Parts: sequence; structure tokens; C-alpha cells
Amino acid sequence: MNLARQTVLVTGGSSGIGLALARALQERGSRVLICGRDEGKLAEVARMVPRIETVRCDLGDEGDLDALVEVVQTRLGKLSLLVNNAAVQFNHTFPDTDPEVTATNIKQEVNINLSAPLRLTAQLLPLLAEQPESAVVNLTSGLAMAPKKSAAVYCASKAGLRAFTKALRYQLEDAKLNVRAVEVMLPLVDTPMTQGRGNPRLKLSPERVAREVLTGLAADRSEIRVGGAKAFGWLYRLAPGLAEQLLRNT
Ligand SMILES: NC(=O)c1ccc[n+]([C@@H]2O[C@H](COP(=O)([O-])OP(=O)(O)OC[C@H]3O[C@@H](n4cnc5c(N)ncnc54)[C@H](OP(=O)(O)O)[C@@H]3O)[C@@H](O)[C@H]2O)c1
Repeated sequence: MNLARQTVLVTGGSSGIGLALARALQERGSRVLICGRDEGKLAEVARMVPRIETVRCDLGDEGDLDALVEVVQTRLGKLSLLVNNAAVQFNHTFPDTDPEVTATNIKQEVNINLSAPLRLTAQLLPLLAEQPESAVVNLTSGLAMAPKKSAAVYCASKAGLRAFTKALRYQLEDAKLNVRAVEVMLPLVDTPMTQGRGNPRLKLSPERVAREVLTGLAADRSEIRVGGAKAFGWLYRLAPGLAEQLLRNT
């Protein structure tokens, strides 16, 4: 894929990995639109990188999601890369949490992390299919293979997104569309999501992630494993029990 001339939507592009991806794609010459809930963060990105376009959208809200699709259709007019990056992660244990709080968290995590990427894919696929080369890029985690105990719903949402990406790839191949389904599997990355979590010495920078993702996209890879996620994938194949123990308490 030629990254110098794509038209891109990065969900959650106002922070962390999404912002690094948006910047890197824009610097290569692509037109980039990002979305997020916090208008202040979006305005800050627009101030720092005026070429990145922004739109406020809460992906957990169906009306906002439909409005985002309309912005892509009308303002951009075309789309060749849909980067499903936005996600939230709540730490809570089912036995110790008020069921009503758990229910609210479940709704948010599943809506933002899983339902929104699926719905955006469905609603934007016709636009993506109009391009000579295009891709749906879904961000997952080593936790999609081996969950950690503190974030059960997050891990389930990422496992779901991983399975969806593979099944979508089969469907796109059968339909002979010029749209690829790409899974980006990440290790621990230094972003607001992981602030105060995990070993700081093991965290990759979002910029390093963006470089590896762009290299993978340019090479038309369908599964892009970044940094330690490569070795983790091999370990999971060879010794799944050991791999699960490694992530269980992270
Ligand atoms: N950091 C890691 O170690 C790591 C590891 C593996 C996978 N990942 C994955 O990488 C992706 C990016 O994570 P990150 O660490 O960069 O997170 P982050 O820094 O917390 O950024 C999340 C982005 O998503 C946006 N967002 C959250 N909820 C949203 C909603 N309802 N509607 C629209 N936008 C929303 C946030 O903006 P607002 O808050 O303004 O909405 C923000 O721009 C996620 O899919 C995550 O699961 C991260």
C-alpha cells in the first residue's frame, strides 16, 4: 500500500498510539481525519498539526457513530484506511464490584472496543471498496490471546476483535474486494491508557509502534505484530500455558 496518498480515518486519534499513527500517516502525505470525545484534546492536535482534521464523536453513542460515517462520506468523500484504534480499559473484578457498576463498564467497553469497529466496518465498507487499494486496520493486544485477570471485559473485547478481523479477511477474499483486513497486535505501550500500569521499562513508545505499523502496511502484511508481540505469539504457539501465566497478573 502506498502510504503517501491514502484517505484515512483514525478513531481515537487524539492521544497515544492513534495520535502517533495519525501524525506518521499525515507526514507520509495521506489525508487524515481523527475522532475522539474530548474537544480539548482534538483542538490541541489541530493546533499542533493543522493538517490533521478532527471531528468530535463518542463511538459509544449510536447517533454519534452515524454522524461520523456521514462526515467521512461528505467531508472526505472517499476512504482507503479505516483504523479502528479507539478503546477504553477498565480494571474491575466481577466478584468484588457492584453489578450495576460492572454492567455500565461492560456496556462502554464492549460498545467502544468491539461494537464500534464492527459497525464502522459495515457502514464504511462500500466506500472502502471503491478504492483500488484499501484496508480496515484493527488494533488488538497480546491480551487477545492470553487475558490478564484485572481487565476481563477489555481482554474479551480484544479477543472478539481479533476473531472478527480474521473472519472478515475470509469474507473479503471470497468477495474479491480490494479491501484488506489487517490485525495490529501490540505489546505494552507507553500511553495514557497504561499510565501507572505495567513495568515502565517494558513499554514501547507510540512513535515506535507507528513506525512498525506503517512498515507493515507498506508491505501489505495482514497481521502486524509489533515489538514483543512477535515473540509472544511464538511463545503462545509453543507453550500456551506458560504464555498465559506470563500475562495473567500483568
Ligand atoms: N497502550 C497499550 O499498552 C496498548 C496495548 C495493546 C493494545 N492497545 C490498543 O491500542 C489502541 C490505542 O490505545 P492507547 O493506549 O493509545 O489509548 P489512549 O492513549 O487512552 O487513547 C485512546 C484514544 O481513544 C479515544 N476514545 C476513547 N473512547 C472513545 C469513544 N467512546 N469515542 C471516541 N474516541 C474514544 C480517546 O479520546 P477521548 O478520551 O477524548 O475520547 C483517545 O484518543 C487501543 O485499541 C488499545 O486497546 C494499547
